[in-house]
Amino acid sequence: MLFLNKYAIGKIDQEVIQTAVEKAYQLVLSQNYNMPDRMHVADNQNTLLLMPCFSEKFFATKLVSVFPEAWQYGQPAVNGVMVLSDNVSGQPLAIMDGAAITAQRTGAVGGLGVKLLTADSIETAGILGAGVQGLSQARYLLFNRNIKSLYIYDLSHEAVMGMINTLKQEFTDLEYVAAKTPNQLVANSKVIIAATTSKTPLFKASPDNIFGKIFISIGSFRPDMQEFPNTVIENADDIFVDTMFATKESGDIAIPLKDHVIAKNRIKEFAGLLEKNKIFENKTVFFKSVGMALFDLTTAAAIYQQALEKNMGQILDF
Ligand SMILES: NC(=O)c1ccc[n+]([C@@H]2O[C@H](COP(=O)([O-])OP(=O)(O)OC[C@H]3O[C@@H](n4cnc5c(N)ncnc54)[C@H](O)[C@@H]3O)[C@@H](O)[C@H]2O)c1
Repeated sequence: MLFLNKYAIGKIDQEVIQTAVEKAYQLVLSQNYNMPDRMHVADNQNTLLLMPCFSEKFFATKLVSVFPEAWQYGQPAVNGVMVLSDNVSGQPLAIMDGAAITAQRTGAVGGLGVKLLTADSIETAGILGAGVQGLSQARYLLFNRNIKSLYIYDLSHEAVMGMINTLKQEFTDLEYVAAKTPNQLVANSKVIIAATTSKTPLFKASPDNIFGKIFISIGSFRPDMQEFPNTVIENADDIFVDTMFATKESGDIAIPLKDHVIAKNRIKEFAGLLEKNKIFENKTVFFKSVGMALFDLTTAAAIYQQALEKNMGQILDF
């Protein structure tokens, strides 16, 4: 059995990860997978998620926890373990760092959102949240688009400066701006990606200051967590979710539905975009991702295959 830690996973090509996420959406379209609702175990403000999925040659289970207050101990909010197994013999093939897989595939979910929802020519972008997911969102945003100015905002200025310093070493040819407020970031960005643990909307919106922009919501995964104000979804021309579970799981969709700001039949699955070449010029678009086990499965399978080809990781015996 192969053991892959975060350093090994960090060396996998971004193209490989994004293609794996695209493959997950193709499996959604062909309905060629077996994925139950993920189990949420809430313990006060902390959550444990159990995420199994079967498809084609592999099955996988991710156990992942989210401890929103972990930053107080200098630790990341998300931790986890991924087990990838053979779908013919049932044998476990690999154990991987579940947090690293989560960060990679979630970055690629946002990246694919950027690729299919924004014009090639966009030059400005903003990331709300400078934690683990915020950094990964930035990496996949910059992988997909030639951004000239990237605004970053977080409650922690230190986190913003840390993220800018990391990105500067990887992507040199752009201006990084530590935004003073979330509203300044929104005003100056064509695409706005939020990856925070906030329970309440991050900025104030009016139909004017959001018009023609693409909003991608990554952070909220419980019905009591909302990163974007209702005004965004209310004025969106198109609303997409990575999985329909988002309508129940995330306050970014569940709250506007409860408040009757939008009707459920306006919400579409992102996978449908793979079939049509839609153009969103001068459209306001809202895309909510809560993640799903199928992303983890296709990503883990792609990582495993590249790791075997490149002799990465350590062999473990039970
Ligand atoms: N959509 C998905 O598939 C997916 C996958 C993984 C994680 N997530 C979610 O993304 C969120 C972020 O995860 P992470 O691993 O990056 O956590 P993290 O703790 O590494 O980072 C969160 C950041 O958000 C910042 N923040 C919190 N409230 C804020 C506010 N009001 N304004 C600005 N910044 C604020 C914190 O200061 C911190 O830097 C979590 O809620 C997590 O569950 C979603």
